[in-house]
Amino acid sequence: MKGVILAGGLATRLRPLTYITNKHLLPIYDKPMISYAIEAMKAAGVTDVMITSSPDHCGHFISLLKLGSEMGLGMNFSFAVQEKPGGISEAILLAKDFVGQDKFLVILGDNIFSHPLKNAVEKFQKLDKGAFVFGKRMPTDSKQYGVLEVDSDGKVISIEEKPEKPKSDIAQTGIYMYDARAFAMIKNLKPSARGELEVTDLNNHYVAEGTMHCEIMEGWWVDAGTSFDELLRANITVAKERGKLNLNDYVK
Ligand code: DAU
Repeated sequence: MKGVILAGGLATRLRPLTYITNKHLLPIYDKPMISYAIEAMKAAGVTDVMITSSPDHCGHFISLLKLGSEMGLGMNFSFAVQEKPGGISEAILLAKDFVGQDKFLVILGDNIFSHPLKNAVEKFQKLDKGAFVFGKRMPTDSKQYGVLEVDSDGKVISIEEKPEKPKSDIAQTGIYMYDARAFAMIKNLKPSARGELEVTDLNNHYVAEGTMHCEIMEGWWVDAGTSFDELLRANITVAKERGKLNLNDYVK
């Protein structure tokens, strides 16, 4: 099983913080944001990981992470440059040769979460074919994400990207697993109205095939790239989890 972490895009929602650096290098408590996706990969047993980023910032990730083994991580990193932010599926396609015929786990580098991925990874490895998406119940604001409709067996019935009227409260997180057929599917995708190759369009190919599975995540999940408040929420959540932050000391 290979891993792909996406760390491209312009992060316009976090300007001016992201004028001169990459969103995924911003601090979340005591580490750069991307460290959390890397740790989640490692804990899931996925140690061969490609990181995709923009031309301006790819070198920063290489400086930070080297090739993986140097930091005592026991991981191997490869790097790829996405020329322009043409969408999540476009970034995934950069990993085609790296993945070969293996299955692979994708994490969007701005997703920070507590749910362990290992059980689902092991389950997915046993399947012949298909894909997997992690969902998170967001009762009040699912419509700002992709929204999943899931049956009682965990099979995904529909996915809609940021719908006006969400069919459920299950947000599509930025954590996915695919078989190698995903690359051929991406090559057939058309850009969306915002000019991107959307991950939801890729995922809907598997939904149509009846092979898209979902695991609902327990614990907390933050899409830290969406706003300053979510970035702060990610910082506070991680700090609280480490047991060092008593909010009462800071907020009167
Ligand atoms: O985080 C979960 C959400 O991620 C899902 O609910 C949505 O269905 C999915 O479309 C995506 O929505 P966002 O609006 O959050 O996507 P965003 O443009 O912020 O990009 C998410 C990550 O992917 C971020 O870490 C940057 C990276 N990215 C994005 C684009 C568009 C790239 O590496 N290259 C790209 O071209």
